[in-house]
Amino acid sequence: MLDPEKILSQFNPATGEIVGAAVVQRHLHDLRGCFGDAGAFEAAAAAGNPLLYSVGAFEPAKGDGDLHYGAGRLMPGKIGDEYFMTKGHLHSWRAAAEIYIGLAGEGVMLLEDLLTGESRMVPLRPQGVVYVPGHTAHRTVNVGKAPLTYLGVYPAKAGHDYDAIAKRNFRCLILERNGRPTMIERS
Ligand code: F6R
Ligand code: ZN
Repeated sequence: MLDPEKILSQFNPATGEIVGAAVVQRHLHDLRGCFGDAGAFEAAAAAGNPLLYSVGAFEPAKGDGDLHYGAGRLMPGKIGDEYFMTKGHLHSWRAAAEIYIGLAGEGVMLLEDLLTGESRMVPLRPQGVVYVPGHTAHRTVNVGKAPLTYLGVYPAKAGHDYDAIAKRNFRCLILERNGRPTMIERS
């Protein structure tokens, strides 16, 4: 039997913190090359390097059938017309799916099917659960005015592959158009 502190964890839906989780913080400079408007990015990066998001990963066990989970907190803001977002990734084990549960704030997920190239924008909000199928690059975007917090649950074997998606980038951007988040093909 696992240790009790691995069986039960406590999280704070407002801050996205899980007690005992290994926290990774990503700042603006860590997302160089992700945003569509390179000029707007360089101007913002020259002015500072704010925290964009933090993710705490909780890894109770690493066996074949085990699960890991993480809580994310993504700040509101924009680079040009493009909302603050996560780097995004594919799972190293491409078949691994993931479930995202919205806790607070207003977000969307950008999903890109690796097999068909199809992109989709899906709301990520409190009381909503987003199922990210396997073979799907995924990125979280804060389209609101407050921090966006969420939980992600994924197979322990999933692994995170950032390079594959960074090399070719997501095909679509989530931009503000007429005050609304809109998915637009990268030019
Ligand atoms: C785990 C997962 C999330 C992300 C988090 C940060 O598989 O999808 O917990 O890790 O949203 O995004 P990335 O990892 O793309 O920086
Ligand atoms: Zn993932």
